[in-house]
Amino acid sequence: MTKNFHNPIVFRKAEESDKERLRLFFEKAYADRFKYKFPDRWVWQYINNPWRRGRDIQSYIAEDSRRNIVGHSGALLVPAQIRGAPIVLAWGVGLFVLDPYRGKGIAKALQELNIFDNEILASIYMAPEAQALKLSLKARRGPTCSVYVHSIYFDNSKVTESVERKLARRNFGRLSRPFAIALSPIVAARNQLRSLLVKAYQRRHRSRSTLFGNHYDFSEGPASFGDESDELWDKARGRYDFCVERTSKYLNWKYRDQPGCKYRVLRMLNGGAIVGQLVYRIGMPPEAPVAFITEVVVEADCPEMTKQIISEAVGVIKERGAVQIVIATSDCTQKVAIEGCSFLRIEDHDLLVNYSPDNSVNLGALSRCLLTKGDHDWDQFFLARLLSPKEVLDRFYRHKSAYVTRL
Ligand SMILES: CC(C)(COP(=O)(O)OP(=O)(O)OC[C@H]1O[C@@H](n2cnc3c(N)ncnc32)[C@H](O)[C@@H]1OP(=O)(O)O)[C@@H](O)C(=O)NCCC(=O)NCCS
Repeated sequence: MTKNFHNPIVFRKAEESDKERLRLFFEKAYADRFKYKFPDRWVWQYINNPWRRGRDIQSYIAEDSRRNIVGHSGALLVPAQIRGAPIVLAWGVGLFVLDPYRGKGIAKALQELNIFDNEILASIYMAPEAQALKLSLKARRGPTCSVYVHSIYFDNSKVTESVERKLARRNFGRLSRPFAIALSPIVAARNQLRSLLVKAYQRRHRSRSTLFGNHYDFSEGPASFGDESDELWDKARGRYDFCVERTSKYLNWKYRDQPGCKYRVLRMLNGGAIVGQLVYRIGMPPEAPVAFITEVVVEADCPEMTKQIISEAVGVIKERGAVQIVIATSDCTQKVAIEGCSFLRIEDHDLLVNYSPDNSVNLGALSRCLLTKGDHDWDQFFLARLLSPKEVLDRFYRHKSAYVTRL
């Protein structure tokens, strides 16, 4: 595909022989973060993807007349089912156009190529510009995935440095430091008050367990999945008319083999049989020690059982030193359980879906689907960021009315 720009730009799928030029592109695009994108992640996403179509690489590039790569859009292929029918779903990832080439329609042409090549191209979490672009290409809105946070501890010890950075950005120059020292007791006191308020809201959301009769055992370890995970998923998958298939093949590729992230699994056992499974990771430096719970699968469609495994995970994650825990779901049972475990709802993201012209499936009206923090690529390395008490409160107030459980 060639577009008629001032200098012709060629749009095509990347090949293995493009790797050196891709390296140069990723270096320019992501600067000091490029090593988290290339080569290990790129190889995992596109080359070692078990759902890759033959020798195709779902990494789409824009090249200028000197064969320099100036733009990129990718499709992360995963197995999914829509009303029981299997489909390979493509998550839209890695959209980037180098600065001097922006505003010329390059991202649009890359996205068109990506949509054309994949039956269903979907996204949950994206920059506003990317959202505008997808909507301009007739993306349809799907179910909403809600994000929740549970704060364990707010670190007030770096207030002076943070105020100093903010003043420096506002051109206070050499005065930044003395002003920061003078202002920091006030800022710290305000943070303290807000963090008390966050804790109070969290306590208010803790509901008592009614599952007195059941006692589960738990085991925890590095993420690795076998037949027992498949058996558990077989019992749960029928609840959803749209979801990524959480088979052991998918989970091992996604959580055991993903470079740059260390995931762990918590299993809930009843008389030795696995009745629940939860996957999480805790941010590693340079990320903040924020935990993402990326998967929760429970045998029965039961909020209380789901609550048991999430409560246990909160305890384990606290012991491992995380200061905040983030979880996301589109599933109603999971929402009730999460809200009962002192999590505050802070964001809602609509699934955006672009269909290829020859697509034969349609999400249509879904009665129930499963989207989690493990879907798309919003659990990847360097996205674990600590929210301040102000950010938690502002976002919580915006979403308070959308609670599933009664406040
Ligand atoms: C977002 C990005 C890929 C757009 O690339 P681009 O080649 O300049 O985009 P295009 O010229 O093809 O614009 C196509 C459409 O995108 C949307 N868009 C692009 N830039 C936008 C901006 N700054 N604000 C709002 N919408 C924007 C518009 O809908 C635009 O259509 P229009 O021109 O008819 O209004 C580019 O700005 C970029 O690489 N940004 C940094 C990385 C990033 O944010 N990636 C998205 C990750 S989810």
